Amino acid sequence: MAKAWTPSSWQTHPASQQPDWPDPGHLEQALKQISSFPPLVFAGEARSLEASLGQVAAGNAFMLQAGDCAESFEAFSADNIRDKLRVILQMAVVLTYSLGVPVVKVGRIAGQFAKPRSTPTELVGDVELPSFRGHMVNGASATAAARVADPERLVQAYHQSASTLNLLRAFVKGGFADLNRVHAWTQEFVASSPEGQKYEQLAAEIDRALRFMRACGIDTESNSRLHEVDVFTSHEALLLGYEEALTRQDSTTGGWYDCSAHMLWIGERTRELDGAHVEFLRGVGNPIGCKIGPTSTPEMVLELCETLNHAQVPGRLTLISRMGAEHVEDKLRPILRIVRSAGHPVVWACDPMHANTYTAVSGRKTRNFDDICAEIGGFVRAHSAEGTWPGGIHVELTGDDVTECIGGADNILDAQLDDRYQTVCDPRLNGRQSLDLAFRIADLIRTNGLA
Ligand code: PEP
Ligand code: CO
Repeated sequence: MAKAWTPSSWQTHPASQQPDWPDPGHLEQALKQISSFPPLVFAGEARSLEASLGQVAAGNAFMLQAGDCAESFEAFSADNIRDKLRVILQMAVVLTYSLGVPVVKVGRIAGQFAKPRSTPTELVGDVELPSFRGHMVNGASATAAARVADPERLVQAYHQSASTLNLLRAFVKGGFADLNRVHAWTQEFVASSPEGQKYEQLAAEIDRALRFMRACGIDTESNSRLHEVDVFTSHEALLLGYEEALTRQDSTTGGWYDCSAHMLWIGERTRELDGAHVEFLRGVGNPIGCKIGPTSTPEMVLELCETLNHAQVPGRLTLISRMGAEHVEDKLRPILRIVRSAGHPVVWACDPMHANTYTAVSGRKTRNFDDICAEIGGFVRAHSAEGTWPGGIHVELTGDDVTECIGGADNILDAQLDDRYQTVCDPRLNGRQSLDLAFRIADLIRTNGLA
């Protein structure tokens, strides 16, 4: 029998990947301040996301989870938020139209500021510096002063999340996401490209379908489903002090919800069964995710399901596999089998980014578009073979014309990575690569007979 859960019960478990805060008193004061701030989301919204993800788990919907690897305190502007939303909406339209099922949209946004690192320090020249852990913790510049963990950054992350969420809500409910505007979502640099033209064709078909509905006498004007969408927020629940400070008891159900985002996930480096991250997230009512990397065994994954979703609530748990293009099919199949046989109604999502990262000859960290597609291909084939539903995709992207991932339709080369390499952490797909990927995902699912 598991011990009783409280918002602070994680504190008696080993918590990996926590920064070294030089002044514990200052940290405590910042967390106290955050715990007095209003929640960023409402528990009812988290329940509504869980219900939608329940539809994904049942094979009746698809999940698109996307955004930056790490949000930045510097790249914080209305244009930046709008452009990211725009590419997510475009991908969602392609997937909805091609798969014929609703697409649940979840951003890695409005809180994705803290990063786990493979080593606590890094060598810059011959100087050893603490690693950059995301703008919520320290600065990215390679100086000792910038790398000191500063609790004021937690407070700033809260405020930036609040403004980002505010604008997102305004966009998705205020007309920006109106289906009548599908054409207007295309960025200039995407419009002239082959994937941009493919998208324009699809948008024209949607226009025709809307005209057809009106001609049949259906009132498309007053149907809010055609003019508004839901976009939910998510981030890796890494800094448990911050997450605890935003965990509140819901007055309608009495349950505890982590109100820093609608959905939270556990990263590949913090998914130990007896660790603090699993302990914390097992007790909150939000839908949660857990990354599943190549070292996960079927038995370990089953234990995670038992701990994180003992009651087997559909949509409560999303397993995000990130196995690497080469291994995904073989590694995933026994995991799919054991979880399905035990009756766990999980959402299966594919993160085709994190196990396909390598250092290019130029020295830049990158990913090849072909490997990303190959991992999704293996993921879809594994599901097709096991009779499960490849329910979603988890990707790092931006709406901008960056040069961070190699390949894709305009074939970005190693030598071009320096041109517009802007990420503060991992390499992201640019707008064209993202849209292209949406078409590829839809094709892969359809050609494997799953839609
Ligand atoms: C991430 O999603 O940015 C990340 C660090 O992934 P993972 O935990 O799977 O390595
Ligand atoms: Co990343």
